[in-house]
Amino acid sequence: MIHRAADYNANEFQQPLVPALPVPRPGAAARDQGPAPPGVLGLTHRRYLHSGRYALYHALRHAGLTRGDGVLVPAYHCLAMLEPLHILGLEPVFYPIATNTSVRTADLESRLTARIGAVIVVHYFGLVQNLSAVRHLADRAKVWLIEDCSHALFGGTAEAPVGAVGDYAIASTMKFLPIGFGGLLASARRDLTGLVLQKPLLRDELKAAYNLLESALENRRPALLGPLLQGRVDQPRQVTPDRGPLRPPAAAAREYQGRTEYALDPHWLHRQATRVSRTLLHRGATQRLAERRRANYAAYLRAVRGRHDCHPLCDPLPTSTVPQVFPLYVNDCLPVFIELKCQRVPIIRFGEFLDARVTAATCPVSIDYADHLLQFPCHQALTTQEVDWIIRMLISALDSAAGAQ
Ligand SMILES: Cc1ncc(COP(=O)(O)O)c(C=O)c1O
Repeated sequence: MIHRAADYNANEFQQPLVPALPVPRPGAAARDQGPAPPGVLGLTHRRYLHSGRYALYHALRHAGLTRGDGVLVPAYHCLAMLEPLHILGLEPVFYPIATNTSVRTADLESRLTARIGAVIVVHYFGLVQNLSAVRHLADRAKVWLIEDCSHALFGGTAEAPVGAVGDYAIASTMKFLPIGFGGLLASARRDLTGLVLQKPLLRDELKAAYNLLESALENRRPALLGPLLQGRVDQPRQVTPDRGPLRPPAAAAREYQGRTEYALDPHWLHRQATRVSRTLLHRGATQRLAERRRANYAAYLRAVRGRHDCHPLCDPLPTSTVPQVFPLYVNDCLPVFIELKCQRVPIIRFGEFLDARVTAATCPVSIDYADHLLQFPCHQALTTQEVDWIIRMLISALDSAAGAQ
């Protein structure tokens, strides 16, 4: 099959063979004993929501932002982060990020106007940023600081756990724990008692429990899947021998904006996460989770070290980091991505589609990462065999892309 950037269609790809997000697996809960690593779950004030975007919606509302206010948003973002702003009538003002994904305060300062009410900073892929300087700036400018911890539920700096520096922390808890759906709005500084949420309906609870049970049964499979993964190193497909440039993010975003997958469901907008999601969240948050994720990340690092056709975004991993994924910059990304998708390898591509207002003039790094940064799961529910399989497929796809040049 020949793929060109222009006709790559995400709907062509089949479901990944191994789960991109943590799933309930038999025995996992029993093994997961021990204290939780520091992070957002330990902040004093907490409200449990359906997912991260709902938490962001409530952070912005609780902060008192009103229609027409501006919010500083990183140019490297996902469209789900913009939906809450959109429905609240807030204007995103995009600021650039550095290659190590950190924020320069000068870039924020130069965009601060009287209408800016808040700044959102993302701890990408689990890499916790030191926000002392941004905190000072936010205090001086009297704007709210929202830490987007959707990729960093755990960890912190020497000064504070992740989420504690901002006025608000939002998290996408389902990216870290096998809970089905879940998000969190938390704060070490702002009392959230005034934020009253509706209870989930009985049918929501039953559906959540049923879905988790179904997922647990489906994912009983490491043993069953093993032989399949063992044998499954198909011949690399022929990909794009004469491909054109990668699809421009602005054009892609136009195509994707308005798609319902990013929308907030009115049913869940003012509703708490289900009881099953809340209970499993605290049960599964343990040191073992952190260790497994770090070990899987290290396995990816070992596999790609020394290659010239790709480089990890972060090597080595700082000691207190609990990674969400393994982010890998791939020089000739599109054929590798398509080959891996055809082999049903789970890949997450944060920021693949950016808002059309973000151009190379706003932030060249974001445009570059939209086109070249792939992320591979390193969650605790993956078996060693599954991680090895992903690595084998990755190396094979990189080699074949290099050979095609
Ligand atoms: C940085 C970031 N913020 C917010 C969100 C929204 O989280 P959710 O998908 O849980 O609604 C995501 C989702 O991927 C994200 O990556």
